[in-house]
Amino acid sequence: MKARRNRYNVKLGKFKIKNWKLKIENQDFNTQLRRRAQFVTRTLQRLLASQQIDSELKEALRYTLISPGKRVRSVLALWCCELVSGEVNHNAEIAAAAIEMVHTYSLVHDDLPAMDDDDLRRGQPTCHKAFGEATAILTGDALLTLAFEILAKEIDESAIAVGLIGELAQAAGPAGMIAGQMADLKAENTEGTEQHLRIIHTNKTAKMFRCAAAMGAIAGGADDNQLKRLCDYGLKIGLAFQIADDILDVCGSSEQLGKTAGKDAKAAKCTYPAVLGMEKSKQLAKELADEAVEVLEPFGAKADLLRQLAMALVERTR
Ligand code: IPE
Ligand code: IPE
Ligand code: MG
Ligand code: MG
Ligand code: MG
Repeated sequence: MKARRNRYNVKLGKFKIKNWKLKIENQDFNTQLRRRAQFVTRTLQRLLASQQIDSELKEALRYTLISPGKRVRSVLALWCCELVSGEVNHNAEIAAAAIEMVHTYSLVHDDLPAMDDDDLRRGQPTCHKAFGEATAILTGDALLTLAFEILAKEIDESAIAVGLIGELAQAAGPAGMIAGQMADLKAENTEGTEQHLRIIHTNKTAKMFRCAAAMGAIAGGADDNQLKRLCDYGLKIGLAFQIADDILDVCGSSEQLGKTAGKDAKAAKCTYPAVLGMEKSKQLAKELADEAVEVLEPFGAKADLLRQLAMALVERTR
């Protein structure tokens, strides 16, 4: 079958969703992660299918959203709900889909020529390469707004909907991810200090992890103490995750990562390996994962998946 091409002559052939195997000797963990990631993908497919959207925009939305992302934040939301309530409920499913939409929007915009100017994402041409810059900007806008629309429409209890919407808006907004992205761009070609780097990475990435944990916990009816602990855990693994991302940019290959390796040095980004060196960066990521595991102590064995997730995120190879 001939692969379809869009008007920019980019192949739009079917992409295969690869399983995200972590370097961890626990089949149960990998199986559960894969199952939950597939669950999120099915939810996203269903939510997208029910929308009346211009066909080209819909194709771009599907292209970015249903591509083989690791689904880490959304699975984190599901697992936090499961931890506090014993099951994944409808509200957690919607919360997971919403956070995945906002995360995907952030990638589409992050890759734009005016930002990181990247050609490759999730193993395929970036949205603007495949559909053009204007459509990519609108795809990001659509993903961001759609996330809030599904939270407003699909969450049963209004108090929970407001809680989830507030968490997501705060984490993704101008005191969260946008602040981080702004600071990240402004820090290009500067020396940077560890303190400043922590602020950048906490804002651009860790707050979205914290938010994923919070949304899952809220959906599961967590009490204040559980919510606080899961937020702390999320913030720590989120920072560790971005440090690992910086490390992989140096050590990984584009093929393995599904995005262009070595681009941080080329853009003179302020990253952990650039500021602290490779060994110290690895050590710090591991320390943060250890601290995140400690925070989970009161949850006992029920939090084992989250413990393994913390370790897996710093040991990952993509
Ligand atoms: C990439 O996030 C952006 C960062 C915050 C480092 P992911 O590595 O989770 O990207 P996907 O969703 O798996 O593509
Ligand atoms: C992006 O950080 C963080 C976002 C909020 C999207 P990076 O710019 O390092 O992410 P990658 O390496 O392009 O995935
Ligand atoms: Mg960036
Ligand atoms: Mg980038
Ligand atoms: Mg990066």
